[in-house]
Amino acid sequence: MARYTEAKYRTIFEAKENELEELREKSIHSDWKPAFHIHPQYGLINDPNGLAYFNGEFHVFYQWYPFSAMHGMKHWAHVKSADLVNWERLPVALVPVEDYESHGVYSGASLEVDGKLYLYYTGNVKFSAEERSANQCLAIMEKDGNIQKYEKNPVIEGVPAGYTGHVRDPKVFEKNGRYYMLLGAQRTELTGAIIVYESENAIEWSFKGELDIQIGFPESVYMLECPDYFELNGKDVMVFSPQGLNAKGHDYHNLYNAIYVMGKLDIDALKFEVEHYQELEKGFDFYAPQSFAGKNNERLLIAWAGMGEIDYPSDKEDWAHCLSIPRELDIVEGKLVQRPADALKQLRENSQTSEAAMAEGNKVIDQGIGQHEFEFVIDSVEANKFGIELFSSETEGLLLEFDRVKQTVSLNREKFESAFGGEYGFVRSSELKIEDNVKVQVFVDHSIAEIFINDGEVAFTVRVFPKKDSKGIKIFSDGVISCSYTKHELNN
Ligand code: FRU
Repeated sequence: MARYTEAKYRTIFEAKENELEELREKSIHSDWKPAFHIHPQYGLINDPNGLAYFNGEFHVFYQWYPFSAMHGMKHWAHVKSADLVNWERLPVALVPVEDYESHGVYSGASLEVDGKLYLYYTGNVKFSAEERSANQCLAIMEKDGNIQKYEKNPVIEGVPAGYTGHVRDPKVFEKNGRYYMLLGAQRTELTGAIIVYESENAIEWSFKGELDIQIGFPESVYMLECPDYFELNGKDVMVFSPQGLNAKGHDYHNLYNAIYVMGKLDIDALKFEVEHYQELEKGFDFYAPQSFAGKNNERLLIAWAGMGEIDYPSDKEDWAHCLSIPRELDIVEGKLVQRPADALKQLRENSQTSEAAMAEGNKVIDQGIGQHEFEFVIDSVEANKFGIELFSSETEGLLLEFDRVKQTVSLNREKFESAFGGEYGFVRSSELKIEDNVKVQVFVDHSIAEIFINDGEVAFTVRVFPKKDSKGIKIFSDGVISCSYTKHELNN
């Protein structure tokens, strides 16, 4: 049978003469390109894949389509780092050249087995625009960095009975001497599920069944993507990315969402007893997060700082998206909190602390944001509504507003000439316990801000595409506030 094809199913090996150089040139002077965030030189990136601290180095792979800002033939791109902040680009790790991955090497995770890094991924196979299947595949990275696809791929051919061709994104882990693989799946009745395979040797897999996650997803959830699993402070945690959740209160306002469940996993009985679950992040551009163990076995998490089906302003420069900064996870009062990984402090240069106070209205407190970290403490006993405007100018600004009466925090990204994604709303919000002061830590990198409130209790990832002169910071309030803030220049 002839292979189903479309122009976007083309690998980097099929690039035309000078095509990649021209793509690189096109955005090399873009003001929107991040500096310390993992991003593409050209083309579109999405999920982080295969995250690992292996053989003394951090490895991040990610989904990449080289030729434009669209979801085309997916490759695994590869960067590594000794310190988790300065990244070196390596040759593309996985290019979809085999029949079992004919329409893309899709997402997956890694596991160290016998001193090698096993990279599990999904071989996406399409028969027509609508029909597809999926194979689960393995590639092995040696300590010297050499990566080879396993010669007997796929390790799991096709999908089990009862599921559509949407079975993907393997997450493999070891428990009690056995290996388990979690996969995001869609039942034939078009609802989302997590299915489990098991193995003695991390290579030969048998289908074990469907995981019972006792939170009763609504019928509208038609797919669960990118499962993740880890243990933290004696709890089992699973993270996944459901598609089809409807917005409710402050939650699930993005087209696709990321949630976590915390409790007890009994993998033998295929049961996850849920003690708590919630949306993982409150920003606009946060999806498909994956975690991994850092140098000291701390739990780190990186997400795709992007969202599907939305046109981003950088598309016209033929590049799209970046990954989030690495965050360290912790459990506080029964909930997951995420704080910027400690390693990011290595980027700090020229730190300056200032104080500001105001009564009512707004006040510019800084004029030069671009590639910085800010730590604010706002004392606000006498104000009900107050906040910070980032990327501020006469005409633009990203508005972070606290509301003491409602006990909420909200983020509004409407006020930009290049505002985008409005079909899903310009505001995201969360409940927040506001007492005498709030702590806000922000990482700004040209066209992305990652905002952590009260030590990671609430986090927002947001992309904005400001004009050149939108570089100010304002504070605003309806009553007296005082604010101390430290600005760190970040350099890599
Ligand atoms: C999530 C996802 C994954 C898939 C990959 C393809 O964003 O749809 O389920 O493996 O992206 O790029």
